[in-house]
Amino acid sequence: MNSLKNLSAIFLSLLISVNSIISSQSSSPSTVRTNPSTYSNNSNDDGDGYSFLSSRSTLNNAVSLSFKPKNQSIPAARKLSPTSCGVWTKTCSEAVLALARRPEMVAWLKSVRRKIHENPELAFEEVKTSELVRDELDKMRIEYRYPLAQTGIRAWIGTGGPPFVAVRADMDALPIQEAVEWEHKSKVAGKMHACGHDAHVAMLMGAARILKSREHLLKGTVILLFQPAEEAGNGARRMIRDGALEDVEAIFAVHVSHEHPTAIIGSRPGPLLAGCGFFRAVINGKTGHAGSPHHSVDPILAASAAVISLQNIVSREANPLDSQVVSVTTMDGGNDLEMIPDTVVLGGTFRAFSNTSFYQLLQRIEEVIVEQASVLRCSATVDFFEKQSTIYPPTVNDDQMYEHVRKVATDLLGPTSFRVVPPMMGAEDFSFYTQVVPAAFYYIGVRNETLGSIHSGHSPYFMIDEDVLPIGAATHATIAERFLIEHG
Ligand SMILES: *[C@@H]1O[C@H](CO)[C@@H](O)[C@H](O)[C@H]1NC(C)=O
Ligand SMILES: *[C@@H]1O[C@H](CO)[C@@H](O)[C@H](O)[C@H]1NC(C)=O
Ligand SMILES: *[C@@H]1O[C@H](CO)[C@@H](O)[C@H](O)[C@H]1NC(C)=O
Ligand SMILES: *[C@@H]1O[C@H](CO)[C@@H](O)[C@H](O)[C@H]1NC(C)=O
Repeated sequence: MNSLKNLSAIFLSLLISVNSIISSQSSSPSTVRTNPSTYSNNSNDDGDGYSFLSSRSTLNNAVSLSFKPKNQSIPAARKLSPTSCGVWTKTCSEAVLALARRPEMVAWLKSVRRKIHENPELAFEEVKTSELVRDELDKMRIEYRYPLAQTGIRAWIGTGGPPFVAVRADMDALPIQEAVEWEHKSKVAGKMHACGHDAHVAMLMGAARILKSREHLLKGTVILLFQPAEEAGNGARRMIRDGALEDVEAIFAVHVSHEHPTAIIGSRPGPLLAGCGFFRAVINGKTGHAGSPHHSVDPILAASAAVISLQNIVSREANPLDSQVVSVTTMDGGNDLEMIPDTVVLGGTFRAFSNTSFYQLLQRIEEVIVEQASVLRCSATVDFFEKQSTIYPPTVNDDQMYEHVRKVATDLLGPTSFRVVPPMMGAEDFSFYTQVVPAAFYYIGVRNETLGSIHSGHSPYFMIDEDVLPIGAATHATIAERFLIEHG
């Protein structure tokens, strides 16, 4: 693992800027939809579901025609699925893949993804994205609770009873101006789905359709979580607070990756993504003329000593086999060349792969800065932005849930389609779920040199190979359906 190199390969939440924290109140769920028949009028609705997305896309027709809300049975699937799949067989995998690869399904998946791509919304502003998801769920007669965490949705398919397994997609975009010129480029200046969350939503919607058509086969309940604010604001934490994980025994999620060829799945047991936090310290001294330093208390010297001591935490206190980072990235004492300043502000970021190490770093950063400052007669306070929700714990895969993903991917797509991947220094708010229930996070490749989908997440050139969408949908669906059979 080359952590320094990986630091630039951010496709997750590394770019959370302390200045652009989106603070927002969590709202409690107020609408519980329990009567899908209310939505039967939607059957005659051939486009209203997309009102916010103007009907210009050539795929719109494909989308609206694709729904048969009054009749969810899909004859092709029935033919391919003569077994009850009470024991998972190759035939079951083929039935799911066949559903996912139906041309009409593929066209719909692309159109859903493109609509979201054209209309990116930032953390906690996913109003129209959430509306699109709910409209589609209504058409599929899938019940859900809304809102969780302001714009989030908890939908369910299956028996309504245990076991319960959750699959999650994040919905927010990034404050980045898209630089890719293509037909479905972002229509919103300065905002872009540069981290693939548009594809994550589409793949989970695809899984919803597959699972709904196989609902009679489900041996429990699949919970679909559409969450806001992965990039900023700890959307996952607020989803949990609003009941996203009620009854849930395990949770899974996928992230697109430009590092793996299209539709290749990658994961690992144990720590997968780092915990990530930011700090800002204010060191107070006493201003005075620099020519007579003895009349002042110098916070520049205290800050310098603190920076050096901070580097000793990882090098002297951490197990060398337990990767950790503390980086000071800013130091500001003003720009007066003649005066010792009153205060210096310094700040930076820290990462670790275990919960224990992560919170130990946090504690030691504070102690080192405060105590180094006091050695030099200064005082200091350290802010970790806990209120602004910029702390992401490590994402740690449960061994058994990882094994479930590996087995599903291998059976569904073949043994060469699965890779064990190294841990990365990026962070992901899926970590909040991993703290509560057994969980597994995995990647699905979107790299295609011909198409040019080779740029990392958070790049203005980021793009995906849309051929990933049906495979991602099938993988989600199979992970959930098999979990209910094999872990229920
Ligand atoms: C369908 O729409 C009609 C007319 O708008 C309305 O009166 C009726 O209650 C609706 N039915 C349902 C099930 O929503
Ligand atoms: C649903 O589809 C099945 C199989 O194609 C058909 O037998 C049935 O009549 C349909 N039901 C409705 C309400 O359209
Ligand atoms: C991680 O550590 C924090 C702080 O010590 C603690 O509150 C939390 O419960 C821990 N989470 C897990 C999964 O151990
Ligand atoms: C890349 O995309 C092109 C165009 O869609 C396709 O023909 C090709 O098979 C893809 N390559 C891979 C490795 O998926």
